[in-house]
Amino acid sequence: MSEREVTITAYPDGPLLVRGDVRLETSDGRELPRSRRTVALCRCGLSTIKPFCDGTHKASGFRTED
Ligand code: FES
Repeated sequence: MSEREVTITAYPDGPLLVRGDVRLETSDGRELPRSRRTVALCRCGLSTIKPFCDGTHKASGFRTED
């Protein structure tokens, strides 16, 4: 994998892990600040810091099929 390549990994029973140099934006185009090269995006819908994962998926029992 090259340094510039972006990967998105569906973490089992959890978030989408985004690795690489990618710009995250709100729906109106404002850039979302990120402090790490890898970010976890919520896919359970329960995070209080959407679009980022806050770990709530664990307590909620969120399950995925992959
Ligand atoms: S996937 Fe982690 S809080 Fe939603």
